Amino acid sequence: MTTSAEIRSTFLEFFRSKGHVIVPSAPLVPANDPTLLFTNSGMVQFKNAFLGSEKPPGPRVADVQRCLRAGGKHNDLDSVGYTARHHTFFEMLGNWSFGDYFKRDAILWAWELLTEVWKLPPERLLVTVYHTDEEAYAIWNAQVGVPAERIVRIGDNKGAPFASDNFWQMADTGPCGPCTEIFYDHGAHIAGGPPGSPDEDGDRFIEIWNLVFMQFDRAADGTLTPLPAPCVDTGMGLERLAAVLQHVHTNYEIDTFQHLIRAAGALTGTADLGNTSLRVIADHIRACSFLIVDGVLPSNEGRGYVLRRIIRRALRHGWMLGVRGDFFWKMVAPLIDVMGEAYPELPAKRDVVERALKVEEERFGETLEQGMKLFAEVAARAGTTIPGADAFRLYDTYGFPVDLTADIARERGLTVDMAGFEQAMEQQRERARAASQFESKGQLPAELAASLPPTQFLGYDTLQGEGGEVLAILRGGRAVDALADGEEGIVILDRTPFYAESGGQVGDVGVLTGTGGALAVGDTQKLAGAFHGHVGRWQGAHPLQRGARLAAAVDGERRQATILNHSATHLLHAALRSVLGTHVTQKGSLVAPDRLRFDFAHFQAVDGTELRRIEDLVNAEIRRNVAAEVHTMGYEEAIDFGAMALFGEKYGDQVRVLKMGEFSTELCGGTHVSRTGDIGLFKIVAESGVASGVRRIEALTGAAAVAFVVDEERRLGAVADLLSVGPADVVDKLRQLFDRQRKLERELESFKAKAASSATQDLAAQAGDVGGIRVVAARVDGLDAKALREGVDSLKQQLGDCVVLLAAAAEGKVALVGGVGGAALGKVKAGEVVAHVAAQIGGKGGGRPDLAQGGGVDSPALDQALAHVPKWLAERLA
Ligand code: ALA
Repeated sequence: MTTSAEIRSTFLEFFRSKGHVIVPSAPLVPANDPTLLFTNSGMVQFKNAFLGSEKPPGPRVADVQRCLRAGGKHNDLDSVGYTARHHTFFEMLGNWSFGDYFKRDAILWAWELLTEVWKLPPERLLVTVYHTDEEAYAIWNAQVGVPAERIVRIGDNKGAPFASDNFWQMADTGPCGPCTEIFYDHGAHIAGGPPGSPDEDGDRFIEIWNLVFMQFDRAADGTLTPLPAPCVDTGMGLERLAAVLQHVHTNYEIDTFQHLIRAAGALTGTADLGNTSLRVIADHIRACSFLIVDGVLPSNEGRGYVLRRIIRRALRHGWMLGVRGDFFWKMVAPLIDVMGEAYPELPAKRDVVERALKVEEERFGETLEQGMKLFAEVAARAGTTIPGADAFRLYDTYGFPVDLTADIARERGLTVDMAGFEQAMEQQRERARAASQFESKGQLPAELAASLPPTQFLGYDTLQGEGGEVLAILRGGRAVDALADGEEGIVILDRTPFYAESGGQVGDVGVLTGTGGALAVGDTQKLAGAFHGHVGRWQGAHPLQRGARLAAAVDGERRQATILNHSATHLLHAALRSVLGTHVTQKGSLVAPDRLRFDFAHFQAVDGTELRRIEDLVNAEIRRNVAAEVHTMGYEEAIDFGAMALFGEKYGDQVRVLKMGEFSTELCGGTHVSRTGDIGLFKIVAESGVASGVRRIEALTGAAAVAFVVDEERRLGAVADLLSVGPADVVDKLRQLFDRQRKLERELESFKAKAASSATQDLAAQAGDVGGIRVVAARVDGLDAKALREGVDSLKQQLGDCVVLLAAAAEGKVALVGGVGGAALGKVKAGEVVAHVAAQIGGKGGGRPDLAQGGGVDSPALDQALAHVPKWLAERLA
């Protein structure tokens, strides 16, 4: 049998022999490309090479690329488990030409590899070409010798020009071109028709290799611009090819999947290895593990939410197989068995992958069962459609992603009212918007933005500046010519040392002074990405006019405190990655003069020991006192330089890189210390969770950190004073005090017990006699319920044939305990005695025939009721 591992190596060897450079698989998260959610094909890492803006590793390249098609333009999530050949995660074998060979070589080599190396019978292969691509048609027909009846022309079959199965595009924008596809015929016994026929979606004819002739760059408006040079991009699904070479009909029967399915069967106690749920689990563990390897963690938005949806689908399938505990994370080990060698990053990150899956499994496990119950109720009364409001409740309360609900519905032949669900979502967003305090601080009209040069920022080097020119003034969002005395507005200068809020760092405050007046700047905001807007009130004898010149002075002390926090944030980020792992990525930050706040992806609370190590690491870097170097360079160069960039963040061509020793290198436009020692001291003051999968650390630096420590010290001193010991002895002293308290409590207990027993001895001596039965009904305030019971027991022992009732009042309430012993048993029940008394003090009671308890309200009626007991008993016994 040809194994998946052999297929990978044969493919790469074949193209190496044809002059191709072999490169490793890129991660599933595309680098610096906000237009694409995931790497959905082999060409993604070469997008810029096609566009001509980047140099490819060579004119001919080949690789095996891990791909994900869930969410975004190419989304196969809904097909997983329902067809023989769709996966969320799969591996794509690909070869590329960047302006080197074109259609002829691409086609001839593909044919050679399939029919001569892997010896697929040519008569089982079919090809398609884009309807107008005569060149490709002729190569197949005349040069390869594929007969006309096995070449299918496919036109624009998806409802728009160039929208075709044979016109490939990575996303709505980017490189694209016509393609030719090679299909394998699994045989007449499998249902399905050839490409282009009405039954083409069946599993008989399977596309195994797609050769794309990249010729255009597609813009958002649909226009196609020719690429600098025509290129080739091919993609062959490893799993589909393995099914063909291993002589099986579905991808799930190939070596890799069989191993995973057997493991899933064992974990879920499922003997039938053909079960669809096992297939889904086997597919999903691959997608989920590699997503986590590539830096995604489950969350409620973007890539993290796609991951969460896939995990939750897998868990629901486990649930269907009867699993009620955890199991999914245990699939990582068998996955490493079959894919760890080809992808060493997987075993390297095993711990993070398992932990992240486990946490998610615990979280969803809590609501899955109830959610399924709710679903069953809803489905029972829903008819054929699950109402949007119910789908929303499943989402909001039980964490069911709507596509999961739709999946469950589909199994039962139902649909979900998606529009209704969206509406419910929108209403919730509205509520959230209404509740949020956010207020826009000012916007720049578009025409004005277009007419102004970007503000020149002087504040990296100086906090004072002479004579910046007022280019624009805004009031209430509109451009005005002047600000009168006492008026508030936003002033834009051609250059300024005022830092405008961005990258988490707050805007500067200070003063802008002109002839005859000054603007007290309370904040500086970044407008339209390029302008520093000084927000403040003008005070002056003359109005501030456009064109005036203002001298700038930033509040230096505040700025200095802010930069300590900003540089410390970078050190904290690096320390977090070093202590918790490189899955930690920044999710947000606030850098203010008085504190810093840093949000980051991590799946569980950071414990005390970890926090201490993080703090120690940062302080060690501060004491190292290395220079904070700033370098300006191209983005790519910065990444090569080792700078950390944020996923999904857009950077310009020229970026600033802040490097503090070997410890931290990050892209950053903010302002920073000159040496790490300036930070003085770093102190973490809080750790908390802000959203699922996102933690927050709050910390202080410099004078604020010292003040915090001094304050803690003062409090400790106050405690020490109260305890009359030195601060060093506080813990020992408290421990002693607690021990003493516990001893006293025990003494008090035994004292109470003694008091109770001596009280009962007195009571026994005074017991009355009703027809040979001794009677005690007395008040013994100060005894608790336990002591009362002990008292009753002791009286019963002393008196033999007896009826006993003890009452104790405390804080307005009365506790009653009654007992019956010896010959009295069978004549009267303890509960009756208690109930008789309780009824007279507004309460009730009950219990066993020999012992009962009750209660009521303290009042003079109690004493009368107790006095009446012997008489009541006499009547009962008469
Ligand atoms: N990029 C092409 C595909 O994904 C090869 O099918």
